[in-house]
Amino acid sequence: MKHNPTHIGQVESVSGNSVTIKMASNYPSNMPIVDGTVYRIGQIGSFLKIPLGYANLYGLITQAGVLAMPESLLMAYKENPSIADGHRWLRMILVGEQIGSSFERGVLQSPTSGDQVHLVTNEDLRIVYGGYNAQSSIVIGNQSASEGLAAQLDMDKLISRHCAILGATGSGKSNAVSIVVKAIAEKPFPSARVLMIDPHGEYASSLAGKCRVFRVGAAAGEDELCVPFWALPFKELMAIFPGRLSDQNEDYFRGKVLDLKRVSAAALGGLRAEAITADSPIPFSINQLWFDLDNFERITFKADRTTPEALIAAGDPAALTSNQYPTAGLGSSAPFLNTKAKGILGFLDGMRSRLLDQSYNFLFRPIGYSPALNGTTQNDLPELFSTWFGHGFPVAILDLSAIPSEIMQTISGCILKIIYDALYWGQNTLVGGKKQPLFIVLDEAHAYLKAGEDSISSRTVQVIAKEGRKYGVGMLLVTQRPSELDETVLSQCGSIIALRMTNTRDKGHVSSAMQDELREMADVLSSLRTGEAIVSGEAVRIPSRVKFFQADNAVKSSDPIASKLWACPQPDVAIYETSVRNWRNQSFN
Ligand SMILES: Nc1ncnc2c1ncn2[C@@H]1O[C@H](COP(=O)(O)OP(=O)(O)O)[C@@H](O)[C@H]1O
Ligand SMILES: [Mg+2]
Repeated sequence: MKHNPTHIGQVESVSGNSVTIKMASNYPSNMPIVDGTVYRIGQIGSFLKIPLGYANLYGLITQAGVLAMPESLLMAYKENPSIADGHRWLRMILVGEQIGSSFERGVLQSPTSGDQVHLVTNEDLRIVYGGYNAQSSIVIGNQSASEGLAAQLDMDKLISRHCAILGATGSGKSNAVSIVVKAIAEKPFPSARVLMIDPHGEYASSLAGKCRVFRVGAAAGEDELCVPFWALPFKELMAIFPGRLSDQNEDYFRGKVLDLKRVSAAALGGLRAEAITADSPIPFSINQLWFDLDNFERITFKADRTTPEALIAAGDPAALTSNQYPTAGLGSSAPFLNTKAKGILGFLDGMRSRLLDQSYNFLFRPIGYSPALNGTTQNDLPELFSTWFGHGFPVAILDLSAIPSEIMQTISGCILKIIYDALYWGQNTLVGGKKQPLFIVLDEAHAYLKAGEDSISSRTVQVIAKEGRKYGVGMLLVTQRPSELDETVLSQCGSIIALRMTNTRDKGHVSSAMQDELREMADVLSSLRTGEAIVSGEAVRIPSRVKFFQADNAVKSSDPIASKLWACPQPDVAIYETSVRNWRNQSFN
């Protein structure tokens, strides 16, 4: 009898939708050629089919080798390996059913022992992987099972149900992000809206021509990144300053901020006075705040204890210099100290040095958004949002590479919160997410999202994960440490793109976030090639092993390359002068 080249073995046992297959011992090759194409048998993540009358059942291989044996045989095999008798074993989970040219996820019927198992040809795979809507699907690479077949994602599901890209350093996460975002950006959508939080400044080159870049110290053709401090919630603003205040003094600060915001709110007009809090995104002069609080600590009084002493030197809120008063006398002689002073000069001093630190200019002196001493600004938040989203490109990259690392978490959290709040409160307008969805890409999410940490970034990401769908805000979370990510956030991701990963704890977290049936596949994660991933969830018709395209303009690696740089001649050591001067001046110029 002529051997049917697609036939590879038979069903040995079935349990739920997990099927054990015994490969034919006379199977001629591991890499049979069918119609001129070489197939690899037994690759984890590839498909097999079981013809059942008019339908074909399809399964995804999750295990190969001895461990794929049925439990009962495995025991016997361990005692006497010769019982394998030249057979090999595969385990697969049933994923779908094909009738004619239509493929459906899920199976209605079950195979039985003895049913024949065949490899899946490119012809079959075209049916399995087909069925994407052209308008809403993006091509991101090839199926590992067959390089001639495109790997696609359903963009709508990807965006509305959130997605996570997980993998070790160097596994190809940034490349994958760039491919996904580029594929979206290349669609002819005039109002696509993608916002990338780019902690290492990696994406500007690979998305050139499709994005607007916002960066501290913008180059030509880029925009300066501004995050006005006054848009931050009170607690987050205070967290920027070194040192901590007692609860009582924090309330005192809060009261003063509120007073200044109320004055500005009245000037802005059209706002309900009762709605204004210290958290309201309303401009106020932080220099004036500092000056008033500092003055209150320093002021001294004449003998009547109510008339202030004359100033020795007048300070300047714009320059952040203090008013100077005659020094208080000891005991009962004038000048008298201000008995109501709060004892917060130390904190105010730290606050002053932050306000003067040039690396915080994007926050405290954002060009166009920096309040005058009376709290008025040239531009307001609507202008900020129109610079971020009204530039005509589908992608806005907020490059945070120049932001001091100690406030990176707070700043990325605040940016997310500012944007989410704007979309939330604009939900009934044309710029709300329901009318113009927003896709937020968070690269290196572990840098600002630690499980169990009560930070503004974790709180905001949790809110977006849980509620974003309702308001048209989708998220693409990228991280190399899934185990450090909040589990509720990961569990809200409708699709998981799992690249190579070796750490056992991380693999555990990834497999628990994947569909139940795929958990056995966690082991294959450590052997994936660079750029290769197991993609599962709502954005794919069927879980697949995929090789991402490589981006034309490689994602810029942020690491200095020692072997290349050390090959350059020694720089003049006198340049350390510049380094120290910059340090003392707190400035890079
Ligand atoms: N699909 C791919 N095909 C070929 N090379 C890739 C692919 N994806 C990534 N690489 C290469 O692997 C390296 C690391 O990729 P990168 O995306 O920066 O990884 P990660 O962000 O996970 O650290 C880069 O040099 C990149 O060019
Ligand atoms: Mg990366």
